[in-house]
Amino acid sequence: MDLRTALTAALRLHLEWGADEALAETPIDHLATLAAVPPAAPSRSRPPSPSPATTPPAAASGALPPPAARAASLAAACRSLDELRAALAAFDGCGLSETATHLVFNDGNPESGLMLIGEAPGAEEDRIGKPFVGPSGQLLDRMLASIGLTRDHYLITNLIPWRPPGNRSPTDAEVSLCLPFLHRQIALVGPRHLLLLGGLAAKALLGGGGGITRLRGTWREVDIPGLAAPLPVLATYHPAYLLRSPGAKRAAWADLISLRRRLDMATGPQALSSE
Ligand code: URA
Repeated sequence: MDLRTALTAALRLHLEWGADEALAETPIDHLATLAAVPPAAPSRSRPPSPSPATTPPAAASGALPPPAARAASLAAACRSLDELRAALAAFDGCGLSETATHLVFNDGNPESGLMLIGEAPGAEEDRIGKPFVGPSGQLLDRMLASIGLTRDHYLITNLIPWRPPGNRSPTDAEVSLCLPFLHRQIALVGPRHLLLLGGLAAKALLGGGGGITRLRGTWREVDIPGLAAPLPVLATYHPAYLLRSPGAKRAAWADLISLRRRLDMATGPQALSSE
């Protein structure tokens, strides 16, 4: 095999593994770094590990609390969306922030009364730093325009604010780690209605074992920490799913009609604030 063919094959293999972004100007040879680490001493010579009874508590030892506890207390301390964005940008407890190019926080109008929640940024969103700007975002924009909504009429965000490498699905651990930040964002925005895009957002906020096909299309109420009253929530298919399965667009259209009716009922056809 000539060099060019070998390099092309190696590149293709990396793409298949999900490594589809260049994160630095020059490649980093992690195997070389590993080789430089001295081999671990044989276990006989290692100092005995402290028994659980003698392990100092994190606070006493100066160690940071676990990431989930830090996420919850950082999020709870935020008093504005700007503070929340800054807290997320400084949070180093989620490995996704290390591989993402940008934090993707939100876009649109926080005063509008309507909040949309997707899954996690894709490649375009990661590059630009805004949610739903890639192919599924463009489909979503067209769908919402068909019921008279532009980004002035809603705030859009994601369950996870950093792109998972290779667009893999976020893990349950990543979802639980990011959930306090999302709850806090909803509480700070105080929307009158939520639209959940896709099964992951629906499962994270509505709970239960059902998939999106069962959860979509019915208005439910959800308790969000920090909000006095339960929030009306509708789940629908994710636009990325609609791109792959155009047959589901009919159901998604029914969901959008239901959303439009609900918004009109709540405050009248002029209701959507774009200030
Ligand atoms: N898919 C999502 O769920 N969110 C985005 O921001 C883009 C694609």
